[in-house]
Amino acid sequence: MGFPLIGETGHWLLQGSGFQSSRREKYGNVFKTHLLGRPLIRVTGAENVRKILMGEHHLVSTEWPRSTRMLLGPNTVSNSIGDIHRNKRKVFSKIFSHEALESYLPKIQLVIQDTLRAWSSHPEAINVYQEAQKLTFRMAIRVLLGFSIPEEDLGHLFEVYQQFVENVFSLPVDLPFSGYRRGIQARQILQKGLEKAIREKLQCTQGKDYSDALDLLIESSKEHGKEMTMQELKDGTLELIFAAYATTASASTSLIMQLLKHPTVLEKLREELRAHGILHSGGCPCEGTLRLDMLSGLRYLDCVIKEVMRLFTPISGGYRTVLQTFELDGFQIPKGWSVMYSIRDTQDTAPVFKDVNVFDPDRFSQARSEDKDGRFHYLPFGGGVRTCLGKHLAKLFLKVLAVELASTSRFELATRTFPRITLVPVLHPVDGLSVKFFGLDSNQNKILPETEAMLSATV
Ligand code: HEM
Repeated sequence: MGFPLIGETGHWLLQGSGFQSSRREKYGNVFKTHLLGRPLIRVTGAENVRKILMGEHHLVSTEWPRSTRMLLGPNTVSNSIGDIHRNKRKVFSKIFSHEALESYLPKIQLVIQDTLRAWSSHPEAINVYQEAQKLTFRMAIRVLLGFSIPEEDLGHLFEVYQQFVENVFSLPVDLPFSGYRRGIQARQILQKGLEKAIREKLQCTQGKDYSDALDLLIESSKEHGKEMTMQELKDGTLELIFAAYATTASASTSLIMQLLKHPTVLEKLREELRAHGILHSGGCPCEGTLRLDMLSGLRYLDCVIKEVMRLFTPISGGYRTVLQTFELDGFQIPKGWSVMYSIRDTQDTAPVFKDVNVFDPDRFSQARSEDKDGRFHYLPFGGGVRTCLGKHLAKLFLKVLAVELASTSRFELATRTFPRITLVPVLHPVDGLSVKFFGLDSNQNKILPETEAMLSATV
């Protein structure tokens, strides 16, 4: 259980994935530790995880570490329980419907095309993780929420957001200079900025050619008979940015890293796109070329994204509190304790995956479908009633990124070796990932003024 108060938090932060695996090897799939200011039982293995995920609301209930709960706020989907949770999910599900995704798609494609063009025209190597964070933040603010915040303010908001995310998992000690205090300060600034953006948006509805997630959220809450208060809207938008930004930036970076490491995979992807008439040369920065049905026909692309999410799953696991004592793998899990179900460790030890450490997208092909035996071996988006609400949006974003990378960019690792990976707050390369991008056809690299501004230090 480690030291008083801090428990094994230091070991956990320093050892990365080794923390979980070394203790699992010593104690088995269910063991206790002490992290982020509280005792915790960590659970690995499909059968054990199934029991936790299917036991939501009667055996267990969501309970993120105190820092996460306090910083995200009480009105969020991930912090709510019981009927409130069920109702919130109904209201939020409208923003991830098929029609909603279809309407965001052209905007997502445009933001990605624009970003890749800027990366390709940049004379030096790009820090991919840092730029992917900017890209997903921009996507969340501009496309998902439809905010028209001036570039300069957006840059400032991004910096505050980074401070917020860095401290979402911190010891809940509210002292000057503590991570938790910095997180609280960041939350206050963000809430102020979001309130301003929401008010401006509600006043100005002209010039919009699609309904963004915030429009749909407000509409959906009215349809469900409960108009959202300003505080609920602020917490809701903060949660959406948080959920979309760090996870998707992590997966985008891992995708680029794997395409770099495995040129044959990239070539096979290009072949598939070519066969479907989707591979383009980047000459047309127009929006609207991709549609959902075109993407869903791309089987190999689907396998690549699934494999990235298996081997480089952004989130380690999910947190719960025990509502009634129950048994798991021969151990008693006492009422009132905290439990963390492990996504990464469960996937890394799943017997259904052959050569589990090898990047092999074909394991998800129709012929092999290694994930077909038991759905709790593969859970990058969690499972049960708390399955990720934004998983289709996240996969859509990653697919568009892969299509655009394959179509318009040549890219090379700018360092001698690939970087080390760390896991907190989400999986990412320790020093970013340094990559030099080149457009496939440099004559066609026209940069839009907005993108030029974006690369110069702001978002
Ligand atoms: C690659 C990207 C993503 C990954 C790996 C991911 C992963 C997850 C996981 C594992 C959970 C379940 C946590 C638990 O069991 O407690 C979750 C929940 C959630 N995700 Fe995602 N997510 C991603 C992207 C997104 C996006 C883009 C959004 C929305 C814009 C989103 C919104 C949410 C929300 C609202 C929840 C809470 C659901 C609930 O408690 O009922 N996620 N996500």
